[in-house]
Amino acid sequence: MAGYSCKPVHKMRSLIFLGFLAVALQVNAQQGFVSIDCGMDGSTSYNDTVTGITYEPDAKYINSGVNYKINKKYLQEDTPVQAETLRSFPNGSRNCYTINGIIQGDKYLIRGLFFHGNYDGLTSVVFELHLGMNFWQLMNITEPSYPFWEEIITVAQNNSFSVCLVNINSGTPFISALELRHIGSTDVYKDVNQTNSLVLYARVNMGDAAKDIRYPDDAYDRIWQLYITPTVWADINSSQPIQTSPGDAFQVPAVVMATAVTPANDTYLKFYFGADTGVVYYVYMHFAEFDALSQTENRMFDVLVNDELKVSSFKPEYLLSTHISLSVTSALGTEVTYNFTLNSTSDSNLPPILNALEIYSVLPLQ
Ligand SMILES: *[C@@H]1O[C@H](CO)[C@@H](O)[C@H](O)[C@H]1NC(C)=O
Ligand SMILES: *[C@@H]1O[C@H](CO)[C@@H](O)[C@H](O)[C@H]1NC(C)=O
Ligand SMILES: *[C@@H]1O[C@H](CO)[C@@H](O)[C@H](O)[C@H]1NC(C)=O
Ligand SMILES: *[C@@H]1O[C@H](CO)[C@@H](O)[C@H](O)[C@H]1NC(C)=O
Ligand SMILES: *[C@@H]1O[C@H](CO)[C@@H](O)[C@H](O)[C@H]1NC(C)=O
Ligand SMILES: *[C@@H]1O[C@H](CO)[C@@H](O)[C@H](O)[C@H]1NC(C)=O
Ligand SMILES: *[C@@H]1O[C@H](CO)[C@@H](O)[C@H](O)[C@H]1NC(C)=O
Ligand SMILES: *[C@@H]1O[C@H](CO)[C@@H](O)[C@H](O)[C@H]1NC(C)=O
Ligand SMILES: *[C@@H]1O[C@H](CO)[C@@H](O)[C@H](O)[C@H]1NC(C)=O
Repeated sequence: MAGYSCKPVHKMRSLIFLGFLAVALQVNAQQGFVSIDCGMDGSTSYNDTVTGITYEPDAKYINSGVNYKINKKYLQEDTPVQAETLRSFPNGSRNCYTINGIIQGDKYLIRGLFFHGNYDGLTSVVFELHLGMNFWQLMNITEPSYPFWEEIITVAQNNSFSVCLVNINSGTPFISALELRHIGSTDVYKDVNQTNSLVLYARVNMGDAAKDIRYPDDAYDRIWQLYITPTVWADINSSQPIQTSPGDAFQVPAVVMATAVTPANDTYLKFYFGADTGVVYYVYMHFAEFDALSQTENRMFDVLVNDELKVSSFKPEYLLSTHISLSVTSALGTEVTYNFTLNSTSDSNLPPILNALEIYSVLPLQ
């Protein structure tokens, strides 16, 4: 089995990756965005040159902590500029950012950026990230030059959010940026409700892409990571725009949908991810047919997870975003692997495709 791992910029958990098995709406600009560049001095906002998003200093959201600049030699070519400063919390077991003006009952995406950059001369730190009273994520930062993003999609329980950094006596908590994006009360991310939030595990754009895609291509500023296509897969793309139905529950950006992968030679696509047991994961797969199929052509496939049939005879729609949503879980125990197979059905004469993929773990809120 050959493994293929995602660029490890996204997540903390060491086992995160997505591998392949070889023989394997228009939203008004930045409306509902709060973009905070933590550790930035002064009171002047700036516009990010890459995304055009306006970032503000963090002083009005928190009154504890110390501002630092990172050692610039740790910056990579594509490190976001927000990583250059951070706020660190040597005192207090729990330091919280409070964001007011939240619409109770609406859905929000909340994302933290953590870039250590050797600011304190140390190389590792472990602390917890909480959303209000709820544990969100264990932060275990061992690599100073990686931007770690942590993201949650949640329903506001209140008219404010508090994002807290909790000291567990394993180093000084810190944060580089905090971003909040209003999703609203729409059907987008139906699986998020008052009791269940979704914590991002992976969100990848399949096919040939030059860079990660986020705002303004994505109205909610989700980050769609590029994924290096393994040799057993081939890149395909559409010269025609991909449409999204009104009420579509995912609103994947057209530019993400316009590229995809298909097997180089096989009649199946296989990939896997390593997971925690006792946790429910939602897996969303996004598809669009690029070819105007003739009467004799047929692209249909089954989706199997660990050899169990989950979806049968799925057929992507021509130039229209089509989705598969499924959940996987396992009894408590050790680590588990979920093997996915998109397998062409016997009456299909075209191989499967995959345009984009999202994986989330479910976080029940108190
Ligand atoms: C930032 O962009 C906004 C529009 O999004 C514009 O109104 C504002 O003048 C810009 N600010 C700077 C400092 O360029
Ligand atoms: C942390 O606490 C120490 C001791 O009370 C104090 O001297 C220091 O100023 C505090 N630092 C911050 C950033 O609050
Ligand atoms: C943090 O990550 C390191 C390296 O992956 C690992 O050895 C260590 O056990 C982790 N610590 C915690 C508290 O999970
Ligand atoms: C709502 O926020 C207020 C402070 O803004 C806080 O006192 C209260 O505990 C919060 N309620 C919940 C359910 O989090
Ligand atoms: C949230 O969704 C889960 C899973 O679909 C469901 O079991 C639960 O009852 C829902 N909670 C609410 C408050 O709707
Ligand atoms: C696919 O098949 C062709 C022709 O048999 C072969 O030349 C090529 O190396 C194969 N590609 C892969 C990735 O297996
Ligand atoms: C899109 O696909 C065509 C063939 O269908 C190919 O010639 C072209 O290079 C591809 N473009 C990109 C950006 O991948
Ligand atoms: C996943 O696939 C690999 C390689 O074929 C295999 O070794 C492993 O046992 C499979 N895992 C499960 C849970 O089916
Ligand atoms: C994939 O489909 C073929 C028929 O097209 C079938 O023979 C094969 O057993 C299927 N593989 C799996 C893993 O279901």
